[in-house]
Formats: sequence, structure tokens, C-alpha cells
Amino acid sequence: MRVKVDEDRCQGHAMCTLACPELFLLNDDDGHAYVEAELVPAGFEENVRQAQRGCPEAAIIVIED
Ligand code: F3S
Repeated sequence: MRVKVDEDRCQGHAMCTLACPELFLLNDDDGHAYVEAELVPAGFEENVRQAQRGCPEAAIIVIED
């Protein structure tokens, strides 16, 4: 599984960082989310799906490999 944040859609609601703080980080400049690496480590898949479902802007893109 891979994950990306659509920076054009993200409005900084930060729900993703609650669902999966290990992978979703907030940019200090604008408060928007980013991930350091697209590849989701084993065991974090469900948290990433929860983050995707919880984003009000549908800014989280999950690629099921
Ligand atoms: Fe952005 Fe959605 Fe997270 S708006 S900060 S990706 S909950």
C-alpha cells in the first residue's frame, strides 16, 4: 500500500494526524499534511484507511498495490 496527500485539496483539518500520527505530519509553514514516504509500513494499513475516510477534503490518496 502507498499513500499520498493531495496538497491542493488539503486544508489542514489534521484528522489524519489523529488517525495515524506515525505517518501523517503537518507542515510547519501552512499546517498542511504530508507523508515522508509513500510506502505504508506493514501494520499501518487500517490506520491509513481510517485517515482517508476521516479527511473532510478527500485529500488522502491510497493506492492499494
Ligand atoms: Fe489535510 Fe485532510 Fe489531513 S485536510 S491535514 S489531509 S485530514
